[in-house]
Amino acid sequence: MANQYQPIGVFDSGYGGLTILKDFIQVMPEYDFIYLGDNARAPYGSRSFEVVYEYTLQAVNKLFDMGCQLVILACNTASAKALRNIQQNDLPHIDPNRRVLGVIRPAVEAIGDFTRNGHVGILGTSGTVLSNSYPIELEKWSEGKVVKTTQEACPIWVPLVENNEIDTPGTEYFVSKNIRNLLNADPEIDSVILACTHYPLLLPVIQRFIPESVRLLEQGKVVSSKLLEYLSRHPDMDIRCSKLGTVKYYTTENVEIFERNAATFINRTVKCEKVVLK
Ligand code: DGL
Repeated sequence: MANQYQPIGVFDSGYGGLTILKDFIQVMPEYDFIYLGDNARAPYGSRSFEVVYEYTLQAVNKLFDMGCQLVILACNTASAKALRNIQQNDLPHIDPNRRVLGVIRPAVEAIGDFTRNGHVGILGTSGTVLSNSYPIELEKWSEGKVVKTTQEACPIWVPLVENNEIDTPGTEYFVSKNIRNLLNADPEIDSVILACTHYPLLLPVIQRFIPESVRLLEQGKVVSSKLLEYLSRHPDMDIRCSKLGTVKYYTTENVEIFERNAATFINRTVKCEKVVLK
């Protein structure tokens, strides 16, 4: 075990990554975690590549300053628009021994086991969909198991969750519309990836409009089991992650608001501190 406090950093544009952290805590409770939400600048979903990259790099640097050796971008938009650049261009200069991982690759690796006919649907933010990261990565990693990927951008879903509109007719309208668009574009879809950290909160509504024959892949479970696998394959990194079972929360926005809203995403009371990213 690391003899210093070296938590695993979990970054998201706002609250959504808490749905991933929830599974991390459940699957690997002995590890230390720091959650950082850039709530002051969320959502990232409709921001440009340059801006998402700039903000994400600031967050990664902050988490490194806090002692993290490993940072997970628990945000599809940041994983889609910033991860590759950070891994290839920044990490070698900052510290080649630290690691930054995302949430897209684990979901993509898992979908091969999920789909029976190779027709996969992606529901995500506009940024994730426009980046084409999922189709590109599915082509690379599914070993030919995925034959057709169809994407649907759902730009309204995050604001609906953030504004506590989960159980309203407005949400039903937009969820049913986006799912209909996706399934009309490829009626053979048998597996759908919820490619946004907020969407698990909409699961009861989503399930109402997805036929029973279509399987839904939630990222939290996949990403947490893949993280455990990663750490067992990389004992050099595992030993540098401290294990006292603590979780700390930081936000770039108002602390009280974060503490109030976080409970919806993680089902627990959290104490949070403010941090400035630049
Ligand atoms: N966390 C983001 C994602 O998974 C959704 C929220 C946002 O747009 O910032 O894509």
